Amino acid sequence: MKIGVIGLGAMGRLHVQEIRKFPYVREILGCDMSAAARAAAKKDFGIDSVAKEPPLLAWKPDAIFVVTQPSTHVAVIEPALKAGIPVLTEKPLATTIGDCRRMVALAKRNKTPFQVGFELRYCGLTRGMRQVVDSGLIGKPLHVDLVQVCGAHRKGYMTRERTGGIFWEKLCHQVDFFRYWLGEPQRVMAVAAPNAIKHYGIEDNVLSCMVFPDGRMGKITFMSTRAAQIGGTDDHGDRGHYYEMGVTCTKGSVTYCAWTDTLSVVRFNHRKDCKSELIERIPATRFGVSCYDVASQNGDFLERVRAGKPLQFPASDALISMEWVAKAERSLASGGKWIQ
Ligand SMILES: NC(=O)c1ccc[n+]([C@@H]2O[C@H](COP(=O)([O-])OP(=O)(O)OC[C@H]3O[C@@H](n4cnc5c(N)ncnc54)[C@H](O)[C@@H]3O)[C@@H](O)[C@H]2O)c1
Repeated sequence: MKIGVIGLGAMGRLHVQEIRKFPYVREILGCDMSAAARAAAKKDFGIDSVAKEPPLLAWKPDAIFVVTQPSTHVAVIEPALKAGIPVLTEKPLATTIGDCRRMVALAKRNKTPFQVGFELRYCGLTRGMRQVVDSGLIGKPLHVDLVQVCGAHRKGYMTRERTGGIFWEKLCHQVDFFRYWLGEPQRVMAVAAPNAIKHYGIEDNVLSCMVFPDGRMGKITFMSTRAAQIGGTDDHGDRGHYYEMGVTCTKGSVTYCAWTDTLSVVRFNHRKDCKSELIERIPATRFGVSCYDVASQNGDFLERVRAGKPLQFPASDALISMEWVAKAERSLASGGKWIQ
Protein backbone atom coordinates (compact mmCIF):
# COMPACT_ATOMS: atom_id res chain seq x y z
CA MET A 1 0.00 0.00 0.00
CA LYS A 2 1.01 3.63 -0.53
CA ILE A 3 0.20 5.63 2.59
CA GLY A 4 0.11 9.40 3.12
CA VAL A 5 0.57 10.93 6.57
CA ILE A 6 -0.47 14.58 6.84
CA GLY A 7 0.95 16.30 9.92
CA LEU A 8 4.34 15.15 11.20
CA GLY A 9 4.22 16.60 14.72
CA ALA A 10 4.31 14.59 17.95
CA MET A 11 1.41 12.31 17.07
CA GLY A 12 2.08 12.12 13.31
CA ARG A 13 5.55 10.77 14.03
CA LEU A 14 4.03 8.01 16.17
CA HIS A 15 1.72 7.08 13.29
CA VAL A 16 4.63 6.92 10.81
CA GLN A 17 6.68 4.85 13.26
CA GLU A 18 3.90 2.25 13.53
CA ILE A 19 2.58 2.27 9.95
CA ARG A 20 6.01 1.58 8.47
CA LYS A 21 6.16 -1.73 10.39
CA PHE A 22 3.23 -3.22 8.43
CA PRO A 23 4.56 -5.65 5.80
CA TYR A 24 1.98 -4.56 3.23
CA VAL A 25 2.98 -0.87 3.45
CA ARG A 26 5.32 -0.30 0.52
CA GLU A 27 5.74 3.48 0.67
CA ILE A 28 4.91 6.36 3.00
CA LEU A 29 4.80 9.96 1.85
CA GLY A 30 4.65 12.59 4.59
CA CYS A 31 3.14 16.06 4.39
CA ASP A 32 3.81 18.97 6.72
CA MET A 33 3.94 22.72 6.19
CA SER A 34 6.92 22.88 8.55
CA ALA A 35 10.32 22.30 6.90
CA ALA A 36 11.74 21.25 10.28
CA ALA A 37 9.07 18.54 10.68
CA ARG A 38 9.74 17.26 7.14
CA ALA A 39 13.50 17.17 7.75
CA ALA A 40 13.03 15.32 11.06
CA ALA A 41 10.81 12.71 9.37
CA LYS A 42 13.47 12.18 6.68
CA LYS A 43 16.22 11.85 9.29
CA ASP A 44 14.33 9.60 11.72
CA PHE A 45 12.16 7.48 9.43
CA GLY A 46 13.76 7.89 6.00
CA ILE A 47 10.50 9.12 4.41
CA ASP A 48 10.10 11.90 1.87
CA SER A 49 7.53 14.59 2.53
CA VAL A 50 5.76 17.39 0.71
CA ALA A 51 4.77 20.78 2.13
CA LYS A 52 1.15 20.81 0.87
CA GLU A 53 -1.65 18.34 0.43
CA PRO A 54 -2.35 18.54 -3.37
CA PRO A 55 0.92 16.80 -4.41
CA LEU A 56 0.26 14.12 -1.82
CA LEU A 57 -3.22 13.45 -3.24
CA ALA A 58 -1.82 13.51 -6.78
CA TRP A 59 0.58 10.70 -5.68
CA LYS A 60 -2.63 8.59 -5.34
CA PRO A 61 -2.18 7.04 -1.91
CA ASP A 62 -4.29 4.00 -0.98
CA ALA A 63 -5.13 5.67 2.34
CA ILE A 64 -4.18 8.75 4.31
CA PHE A 65 -3.78 9.51 8.00
CA VAL A 66 -4.64 13.05 9.13
CA VAL A 67 -2.59 14.12 12.13
CA THR A 68 -2.74 17.92 11.95
CA GLN A 69 -4.26 20.11 14.65
CA PRO A 70 -8.06 19.80 14.98
CA SER A 71 -8.90 23.23 13.47
CA THR A 72 -7.33 22.13 10.16
CA HIS A 73 -9.03 18.72 9.90
CA VAL A 74 -11.94 19.76 7.71
CA ALA A 75 -9.73 21.58 5.16
CA VAL A 76 -7.36 18.61 4.99
CA ILE A 77 -9.91 15.78 5.04
CA GLU A 78 -12.52 17.06 2.57
CA PRO A 79 -10.25 17.05 -0.52
CA ALA A 80 -9.14 13.49 0.28
CA LEU A 81 -12.70 12.23 0.72
CA LYS A 82 -13.76 14.04 -2.47
CA ALA A 83 -10.95 12.16 -4.27
CA GLY A 84 -12.31 8.89 -2.83
CA ILE A 85 -9.20 8.23 -0.71
CA PRO A 86 -9.81 6.33 2.56
CA VAL A 87 -9.03 8.49 5.60
CA LEU A 88 -8.24 7.81 9.22
CA THR A 89 -8.13 11.10 11.09
CA GLU A 90 -6.88 11.68 14.58
CA LYS A 91 -9.59 12.80 16.96
CA PRO A 92 -11.53 15.04 17.07
CA LEU A 93 -13.34 14.65 13.76
CA ALA A 94 -13.45 18.47 13.48
CA THR A 95 -14.07 21.42 15.79
CA THR A 96 -17.71 22.16 14.92
CA ILE A 97 -20.57 19.71 14.74
CA GLY A 98 -21.61 21.09 11.33
CA ASP A 99 -18.18 20.22 9.88
CA CYS A 100 -18.32 16.75 11.46
CA ARG A 101 -21.75 16.04 9.94
CA ARG A 102 -20.74 17.36 6.52
CA MET A 103 -17.63 15.18 6.30
CA VAL A 104 -19.44 12.04 7.41
CA ALA A 105 -22.17 12.71 4.81
CA LEU A 106 -19.51 13.24 2.13
CA ALA A 107 -17.79 9.94 2.98
CA LYS A 108 -21.15 8.17 2.85
CA ARG A 109 -22.06 9.73 -0.53
CA ASN A 110 -18.65 8.79 -1.98
CA LYS A 111 -18.65 5.36 -0.29
CA THR A 112 -15.18 6.19 1.03
CA PRO A 113 -13.88 4.48 4.20
CA PHE A 114 -13.54 7.09 6.94
CA GLN A 115 -12.53 6.50 10.55
CA VAL A 116 -11.67 8.60 13.61
CA GLY A 117 -8.72 7.65 15.81
CA PHE A 118 -10.46 6.84 19.06
CA GLU A 119 -7.56 4.67 20.11
CA LEU A 120 -9.04 3.87 23.53
CA ARG A 121 -11.23 1.36 21.70
CA TYR A 122 -8.13 -0.53 20.65
CA CYS A 123 -5.56 -0.32 23.42
CA GLY A 124 -4.51 -3.15 25.70
CA LEU A 125 -6.24 -1.77 28.76
CA THR A 126 -9.58 -1.86 26.90
CA ARG A 127 -8.92 -5.35 25.54
CA GLY A 128 -8.13 -6.49 29.09
CA MET A 129 -11.26 -4.87 30.55
CA ARG A 130 -13.37 -6.33 27.78
CA GLN A 131 -12.02 -9.81 28.44
CA VAL A 132 -12.80 -9.55 32.16
CA VAL A 133 -16.34 -8.22 31.58
CA ASP A 134 -17.10 -10.71 28.79
CA SER A 135 -16.05 -13.58 31.09
CA GLY A 136 -19.22 -12.84 33.11
CA LEU A 137 -17.25 -12.82 36.39
CA ILE A 138 -18.27 -9.31 37.44
CA GLY A 139 -21.71 -8.96 35.85
CA LYS A 140 -22.98 -6.18 33.60
CA PRO A 141 -21.42 -2.65 33.30
CA LEU A 142 -23.27 0.02 35.29
CA HIS A 143 -20.75 2.86 35.78
CA VAL A 144 -17.65 3.92 33.89
CA ASP A 145 -15.28 6.28 35.72
CA LEU A 146 -12.38 8.08 34.14
CA VAL A 147 -9.83 10.15 35.98
CA GLN A 148 -7.27 11.95 33.87
CA VAL A 149 -4.54 13.91 35.59
CA CYS A 150 -3.52 15.64 32.42
CA GLY A 151 0.03 16.34 31.30
CA ALA A 152 1.38 19.69 30.17
CA HIS A 153 0.92 21.23 26.74
CA ARG A 154 2.95 23.96 25.14
CA LYS A 155 1.70 27.56 24.88
CA GLY A 156 -0.74 27.96 22.02
CA TYR A 157 -1.77 24.26 22.02
CA MET A 158 -4.81 24.42 24.29
CA THR A 159 -6.74 27.24 22.67
CA ARG A 160 -10.34 27.29 21.49
CA GLU A 161 -9.29 28.28 17.95
CA ARG A 162 -6.89 25.34 17.62
CA THR A 163 -8.88 22.63 19.36
CA GLY A 164 -12.56 23.63 19.53
CA GLY A 165 -12.61 23.26 23.33
CA ILE A 166 -11.71 20.78 26.05
CA PHE A 167 -14.33 18.17 25.06
CA TRP A 168 -13.31 18.41 21.41
CA GLU A 169 -9.60 18.17 22.16
CA LYS A 170 -9.41 15.77 25.09
CA LEU A 171 -12.67 14.52 26.50
CA CYS A 172 -14.07 13.24 23.19
CA HIS A 173 -12.02 10.10 23.96
CA GLN A 174 -13.86 9.64 27.22
CA VAL A 175 -17.32 10.35 25.77
CA ASP A 176 -16.63 7.78 23.06
CA PHE A 177 -15.36 5.30 25.66
CA PHE A 178 -18.63 5.64 27.60
CA ARG A 179 -20.62 4.80 24.47
CA TYR A 180 -18.37 1.80 23.87
CA TRP A 181 -19.28 0.42 27.31
CA LEU A 182 -22.74 1.75 28.09
CA GLY A 183 -24.61 2.36 24.81
CA GLU A 184 -26.28 5.60 23.79
CA PRO A 185 -26.46 8.46 26.35
CA GLN A 186 -29.62 10.26 27.39
CA ARG A 187 -28.18 13.43 28.92
CA VAL A 188 -24.92 15.11 29.87
CA MET A 189 -23.71 17.80 32.25
CA ALA A 190 -20.27 19.36 32.73
CA VAL A 191 -18.75 21.98 35.03
CA ALA A 192 -15.28 23.49 35.20
CA ALA A 193 -13.14 24.78 38.05
CA PRO A 194 -10.89 27.84 37.48
CA ASN A 195 -7.96 27.10 35.18
CA ALA A 196 -4.82 25.68 36.78
CA ILE A 197 -2.62 26.65 33.83
CA LYS A 198 -2.81 30.34 32.97
CA HIS A 199 -1.80 30.14 29.32
CA TYR A 200 -4.56 27.64 28.44
CA GLY A 201 -7.40 29.23 26.54
CA ILE A 202 -9.81 26.39 27.38
CA GLU A 203 -10.96 24.68 30.56
CA ASP A 204 -8.38 22.42 32.20
CA ASN A 205 -10.26 21.15 35.28
CA VAL A 206 -13.56 19.54 34.40
CA LEU A 207 -16.12 17.28 36.01
CA SER A 208 -18.73 15.70 33.76
CA CYS A 209 -21.48 13.09 34.05
CA MET A 210 -23.46 11.27 31.39
CA VAL A 211 -26.61 9.29 32.05
CA PHE A 212 -27.56 6.21 30.04
CA PRO A 213 -30.72 4.06 29.98
CA ASP A 214 -31.48 1.92 33.06
CA GLY A 215 -29.42 4.15 35.35
CA ARG A 216 -26.07 3.43 33.77
CA MET A 217 -23.64 6.34 34.19
CA GLY A 218 -20.30 7.70 33.07
CA LYS A 219 -18.21 10.20 35.03
CA ILE A 220 -15.15 12.18 33.96
CA THR A 221 -12.73 13.86 36.33
CA PHE A 222 -10.17 15.77 34.27
CA MET A 223 -7.54 17.97 35.89
CA SER A 224 -4.34 19.72 34.93
CA THR A 225 -3.51 20.46 38.55
CA ARG A 226 -0.44 18.23 38.53
CA ALA A 227 0.87 19.64 35.24
CA ALA A 228 0.47 23.15 36.70
CA GLN A 229 2.75 22.19 39.56
CA ILE A 230 5.60 20.70 37.56
CA GLY A 231 6.38 24.16 36.20
CA GLY A 232 7.87 25.26 32.88
CA THR A 233 4.80 24.07 30.99
CA ASP A 234 5.83 26.18 27.99
CA ASP A 235 8.86 24.03 27.45
CA HIS A 236 7.52 20.54 27.17
CA GLY A 237 4.95 19.09 24.89
CA ASP A 238 2.10 16.70 25.38
CA ARG A 239 3.40 14.41 28.10
CA GLY A 240 2.91 13.32 31.67
CA HIS A 241 -0.67 12.07 31.36
CA TYR A 242 -2.09 9.82 34.04
CA TYR A 243 -5.23 7.76 33.58
CA GLU A 244 -7.38 5.77 35.88
CA MET A 245 -10.35 4.02 34.33
CA GLY A 246 -12.85 1.81 36.01
CA VAL A 247 -15.85 -0.16 34.86
CA THR A 248 -18.08 -0.96 37.81
CA CYS A 249 -20.47 -3.79 37.10
CA THR A 250 -23.35 -5.47 38.93
CA LYS A 251 -21.10 -8.04 40.64
CA GLY A 252 -17.68 -6.37 40.72
CA SER A 253 -15.33 -3.96 39.00
CA VAL A 254 -12.28 -3.78 36.78
CA THR A 255 -9.99 -0.77 37.17
CA TYR A 256 -6.94 0.31 35.22
CA CYS A 257 -4.20 2.34 36.90
CA ALA A 258 -1.58 4.00 34.69
CA TRP A 259 1.01 4.39 37.47
CA THR A 260 1.27 0.64 37.86
CA ASP A 261 -0.01 -0.26 34.37
CA THR A 262 -2.26 -2.90 35.91
CA LEU A 263 -5.88 -3.95 35.86
CA SER A 264 -7.45 -4.85 39.20
CA VAL A 265 -10.44 -7.16 39.22
CA VAL A 266 -12.66 -7.04 42.29
CA ARG A 267 -15.78 -9.09 43.06
CA PHE A 268 -18.41 -7.71 45.41
CA ASN A 269 -20.00 -9.59 48.29
CA HIS A 270 -19.88 -12.98 46.70
CA ARG A 271 -18.52 -14.57 49.87
CA LYS A 272 -20.65 -15.61 52.83
CA ASP A 273 -19.06 -12.87 55.00
CA CYS A 274 -20.11 -10.31 52.35
CA LYS A 275 -16.55 -9.05 51.82
CA SER A 276 -15.43 -7.82 48.43
CA GLU A 277 -12.34 -9.51 47.15
CA LEU A 278 -9.45 -8.58 44.91
CA ILE A 279 -9.57 -11.50 42.49
CA GLU A 280 -6.62 -10.59 40.31
CA ARG A 281 -4.17 -7.82 39.52
CA ILE A 282 -3.13 -8.21 35.89
CA PRO A 283 -0.36 -6.34 34.03
CA ALA A 284 -2.19 -4.48 31.26
CA THR A 285 0.68 -5.32 28.90
CA ARG A 286 -0.60 -8.91 28.88
CA PHE A 287 -3.21 -7.61 26.41
CA GLY A 288 -0.69 -5.80 24.17
CA VAL A 289 0.34 -2.13 24.24
CA SER A 290 -1.70 -0.81 27.17
CA CYS A 291 -2.15 2.84 26.04
CA TYR A 292 -1.79 4.69 22.70
CA ASP A 293 -1.97 1.43 20.71
CA VAL A 294 -1.88 3.26 17.40
CA ALA A 295 -0.54 0.12 15.71
CA SER A 296 -3.66 -1.98 16.44
CA GLN A 297 -5.95 0.88 15.39
CA ASN A 298 -4.11 1.65 12.16
CA GLY A 299 -3.62 -2.03 11.31
CA ASP A 300 -7.34 -2.72 11.72
CA PHE A 301 -8.20 0.26 9.49
CA LEU A 302 -5.68 -0.59 6.74
CA GLU A 303 -6.47 -4.30 6.67
CA ARG A 304 -10.17 -3.60 6.27
CA VAL A 305 -9.49 -1.04 3.53
CA ARG A 306 -7.24 -3.55 1.72
CA ALA A 307 -9.83 -6.31 1.98
CA GLY A 308 -12.72 -4.02 1.00
CA LYS A 309 -14.43 -4.91 4.31
CA PRO A 310 -16.61 -2.49 6.30
CA LEU A 311 -14.80 -0.58 9.04
CA GLN A 312 -15.23 -1.74 12.61
CA PHE A 313 -15.62 1.83 13.92
CA PRO A 314 -16.64 4.11 11.01
CA ALA A 315 -16.74 7.90 11.35
CA SER A 316 -20.55 7.72 11.24
CA ASP A 317 -20.34 6.09 14.69
CA ALA A 318 -17.71 8.58 15.91
CA LEU A 319 -20.12 11.34 14.81
CA ILE A 320 -22.57 10.22 17.52
CA SER A 321 -19.79 10.70 20.10
CA MET A 322 -19.09 14.14 18.61
CA GLU A 323 -22.78 15.09 18.90
CA TRP A 324 -22.44 14.42 22.66
CA VAL A 325 -19.16 16.32 22.75
CA ALA A 326 -21.00 19.35 21.35
CA LYS A 327 -23.72 18.93 24.01
CA ALA A 328 -21.11 18.58 26.78
CA GLU A 329 -19.47 21.85 25.63
CA ARG A 330 -22.89 23.51 25.74
CA SER A 331 -23.40 22.28 29.29
CA LEU A 332 -19.94 23.53 30.26
CA ALA A 333 -20.70 26.96 28.79
CA SER A 334 -23.98 27.07 30.73
CA GLY A 335 -22.27 26.28 34.04
CA GLY A 336 -23.56 22.72 34.29
CA LYS A 337 -27.08 22.53 32.80
CA TRP A 338 -28.20 19.02 31.89
CA ILE A 339 -28.47 18.71 28.12
CA GLN A 340 -30.61 15.96 26.55
N1 LIG B 1 -5.03 9.88 20.17
C1 LIG B 1 -4.44 10.61 21.10
O1 LIG B 1 -4.39 10.24 22.25
C2 LIG B 1 -3.82 11.91 20.69
C3 LIG B 1 -2.78 12.47 21.45
C4 LIG B 1 -2.24 13.70 21.03
C5 LIG B 1 -2.73 14.34 19.90
N2 LIG B 1 -3.75 13.77 19.19
C6 LIG B 1 -4.31 14.42 18.00
O2 LIG B 1 -3.34 14.39 16.96
C7 LIG B 1 -3.45 15.55 16.13
C8 LIG B 1 -2.11 16.24 16.05
O3 LIG B 1 -1.69 16.60 17.35
P1 LIG B 1 -0.14 16.85 17.69
O4 LIG B 1 -0.03 16.91 19.16
O5 LIG B 1 0.72 15.88 16.94
O6 LIG B 1 0.05 18.32 17.09
P2 LIG B 1 1.40 19.02 16.63
O7 LIG B 1 1.17 20.48 16.71
O8 LIG B 1 2.57 18.44 17.37
O9 LIG B 1 1.56 18.58 15.09
C9 LIG B 1 0.71 19.02 14.06
C10 LIG B 1 1.54 19.10 12.78
O10 LIG B 1 0.67 19.35 11.68
C11 LIG B 1 1.30 20.29 10.81
N3 LIG B 1 0.24 20.94 10.02
C12 LIG B 1 -0.73 21.78 10.46
N4 LIG B 1 -1.56 22.13 9.46
C13 LIG B 1 -1.12 21.49 8.37
C14 LIG B 1 -1.58 21.44 7.02
N5 LIG B 1 -2.66 22.10 6.62
N6 LIG B 1 -0.88 20.67 6.14
C15 LIG B 1 0.22 20.01 6.54
N7 LIG B 1 0.70 20.03 7.81
C16 LIG B 1 0.04 20.75 8.71
C17 LIG B 1 2.06 21.22 11.75
O11 LIG B 1 3.11 21.89 11.07
C18 LIG B 1 2.57 20.24 12.81
O12 LIG B 1 3.86 19.72 12.49
C19 LIG B 1 -4.59 16.40 16.73
O13 LIG B 1 -5.79 16.11 16.08
C20 LIG B 1 -4.65 15.91 18.19
O14 LIG B 1 -5.91 16.08 18.78
C21 LIG B 1 -4.28 12.56 19.56
